[in-house]
Amino acid sequence: MKILGIETSCDETAVGIVEDGRLLRANVISSQVDLHARYGGVVPEVASRQHVRDMVPTLEKSLADGGIALEDVDFVAATYGPGLAGSLITGLNTAKALSFSLGVPLVGVNHLEGHIYASWLIEGVDSPAESPGFPLACLIASGGHTDLILMEGHGIYKLVGRTRDDAAGEAFDKAARILGLGFPGGPEIQRVSQGASGTELPALPRAWMKDTLDFSFSGVKTALLHLAQSKGVYPADTSILDKVQQAHLVREMAAIFQESLVDVMVVKLIEMAKQYHAKGIVLGGGVAANARLREVVAQRSTLPVIIPPPVLCTDNGAMIAACAYYQVQRGEQFGLDLDIDPALPLG
Ligand code: KG4
Ligand code: ZN
Repeated sequence: MKILGIETSCDETAVGIVEDGRLLRANVISSQVDLHARYGGVVPEVASRQHVRDMVPTLEKSLADGGIALEDVDFVAATYGPGLAGSLITGLNTAKALSFSLGVPLVGVNHLEGHIYASWLIEGVDSPAESPGFPLACLIASGGHTDLILMEGHGIYKLVGRTRDDAAGEAFDKAARILGLGFPGGPEIQRVSQGASGTELPALPRAWMKDTLDFSFSGVKTALLHLAQSKGVYPADTSILDKVQQAHLVREMAAIFQESLVDVMVVKLIEMAKQYHAKGIVLGGGVAANARLREVVAQRSTLPVIIPPPVLCTDNGAMIAACAYYQVQRGEQFGLDLDIDPALPLG
């Protein structure tokens, strides 16, 4: 069974093709990063209009990469929420047009559920399709979400923790702006942190918020801002610092910022896994591409840890197709009048 998955919830136009829920045939991602970089964040209208331009070429490349003709597609899936309305509309309407013209069923996919199913695309015994069984403790951390989701079975979710202010990816993006780094901030913070000692500056605060699995990342961002201001890093003050000192401090600040976020996410994820007797841990979403997060969760967890390769952590169409396969298995059906839902919840 070949499923074509379309993802346009934010700033990537992405089309993936997956066979039988597991076999990745194609995964083409047209990123708009360069377009939004000059604004330091995603501009919704600019994103929607770029999806309109990129959609068909991305679809064509995906079919070509997979060596698949449109007529061989059995189901067409698309993200219908959560996300930016104008962006979601382009992908969902493309999927509807394909479904209508090919005479194959449409599958509407929740973007967050898609991020969870990216793990099912991992090959071999490390995939949750082989082991470790349910329940799974999932952390979905992206530009818009930081959710702890208990997955009790296919399609059965309970939201047990979420951020009360900034999402982790959003915090990384804002921190990068304070430090004068590029957009998106997560990969930039990771890159510059690699050359840091991480011990020259005092640690930044962690919002543990006792007796809850919720997160809060706005305080650590403000603490970073104050530290950057006190050291002359923000706004960059060349009368206090020369270029070498500036770059050095940026590296150290990026490292302690990353450490604070990673520490809180990993501690709460492991605590959740304990509380709910999870058999394994799954990570997904753009922030799960972070090398330090991947390292720390693997070090501290005694349970199997499942994290897709970075290219399947950030937004992609393959995860939407993988998720749709399991929706088809449980008989979910969608009419061609399906609407987008920018605030679609999971669990
Ligand atoms: O899942 P995603 O591609 O899109 C959303 O659904 O939001 O996540 C994008 C977010 C951005 O905020 C970006 O800074 C962050 O993921 N991100 C990272 C890394 N790669 C992407 N954060 C930390 N470390 C990374 N390596
Ligand atoms: Zn995402």
